[in-house]
Amino acid sequence: MVSTNPPSPSIVILAAGLGKRMFSTLPKVLIPVCGRPMLFQILDRIAEVSPRSRVAIVVGHQKDLVMERVRAENYQFPVSFVEQAEQKGTGHAVKCAMESDFGKLAVEKKETVLVLPGDLPLMTAELLREMLEPLKRGTAMRILTANLSDPFGYGRIVRKGKKGAVLRIVEEKDATPREKLIQEVGVSIYSFQAQFLATGVSQLKNQNAQKEYYLTDLVSAAVSKKRTIETHLWDSPEDVRGVNNPYELSLASDILNARVIKKHALNGVRFLDLKSCRIDPTAEIERDVIVYPGVVIEGKTRIGSGTVLGPNVHLKNMTVGSGCEVKTGTVGEDSTIQDQVKLGPYAHLRPGSEVKKGAKIGNFVELKKTIIGEESSVAHLSYLGDAEVGARVNIGCGFVTCNFDGRVINGSRKHKTVIEDDVFVGSDCQAVAPITLKRGSFIASGSTITETVEAESLAIARARQVNKPGYAKKLKPQGT
Ligand code: UD1
Ligand code: CA
Repeated sequence: MVSTNPPSPSIVILAAGLGKRMFSTLPKVLIPVCGRPMLFQILDRIAEVSPRSRVAIVVGHQKDLVMERVRAENYQFPVSFVEQAEQKGTGHAVKCAMESDFGKLAVEKKETVLVLPGDLPLMTAELLREMLEPLKRGTAMRILTANLSDPFGYGRIVRKGKKGAVLRIVEEKDATPREKLIQEVGVSIYSFQAQFLATGVSQLKNQNAQKEYYLTDLVSAAVSKKRTIETHLWDSPEDVRGVNNPYELSLASDILNARVIKKHALNGVRFLDLKSCRIDPTAEIERDVIVYPGVVIEGKTRIGSGTVLGPNVHLKNMTVGSGCEVKTGTVGEDSTIQDQVKLGPYAHLRPGSEVKKGAKIGNFVELKKTIIGEESSVAHLSYLGDAEVGARVNIGCGFVTCNFDGRVINGSRKHKTVIEDDVFVGSDCQAVAPITLKRGSFIASGSTITETVEAESLAIARARQVNKPGYAKKLKPQGT
């Protein structure tokens, strides 16, 4: 039986390098660009374009961490890891892959093998699609090139004459001053015929400035074997920018951020300033959302339609409903804000909070692990931690839940405050937890509540006022 499906390609990703110039404790390929590690951004594109591929990741530096993090992502395609114990260059990394079972199978099945570096997080789905096209019979390799106005650091494409056949790639450190003027560069993305690749990497030499086995040397190897090389000029250089130092990391995040913002803007999100906002690719924003300057949206965050954000709002891993107003402040890891909530300015949501429909959280209010019920209001200068507040509750200015006093109760050092529906709390009150203010109760201003308040009752917990006529005079210095 002849299968009509195109052969599923094999993909090798080079991720063993130390990335010394990144000055990071993380292995280079796990460094995030716009919140997502570079390596995952590449794997995400593969999942999008070629989910039936077999993928081998060459690991070395901090390999256990890289493997653990990749496994936790649960990609649907099979991922195998190949160890490159010592980093002797890109050619050596591919040699390790081709000598493994992964590489042997690719040779046996006469596959096209796509090789990708782990430090090009901006490669697009279109780019991968084109590079995954099976090679024509007799073609040994396809190389992707780009014209860069500043080609420093990249391997230069040396051609016969100006536009003739490619002869070799010369690395920055090996290039003559004349070769350094060449603006066409190789970007470390190639498709190879598996057998050519396996033989080629086994024959590489390391006689060069860096004493490394260069994968780029396979170009001159193909030329001397009179094999066909296809070159493919990618005309959008932004997609093939490598990340080799913190400056290039910032450039890459600028590019990715601009792409994300463009996508949202075309989907109906209105940005008042395209340049001052940062939005991770993992964020979902519905249409009719208005974004003021200085908005940062990180991680898996969802924003419902008609919500107005900013200026200066930071949202991380949280859900914001529709028709909300979120002004200056707010982080809210693992928090939820339902529809029509007004938040801020300077509200600080700490992890695990939930603000239900139509509620209002005003300025300088901090919530931690707290639920605020529908239509309730905490308008000014308050702290609520480990609290459960019902519906239509009014909390006056300057309320504090005293959730921590050093005692351990039922194994917990933080104690709970429950405020049931329709409670009214006057200004400047404290609730010493664990405590419950029952349905419809009324707490007088300035009270420190230490005992359960029964439903519909009034609690006053402050000293009664004493007025002493004329006494003020005695307290003031004589003669005033
Ligand atoms: C490489 C290319 C260069 C190209 C540039 C594009 C070579 C010799 N040079 O240079 O022509 O213009 O990419 O971005 O191929 N790696 C390993 N094991 C190693 C060495 C590297 O796995 O022993 C991995 C790194 O983790 C990285 C990738 O290979 O993800 C590229 O290595 P890097 O050192 O960044 O190469 P460049 O100097 O950028
Ligand atoms: Ca690189």
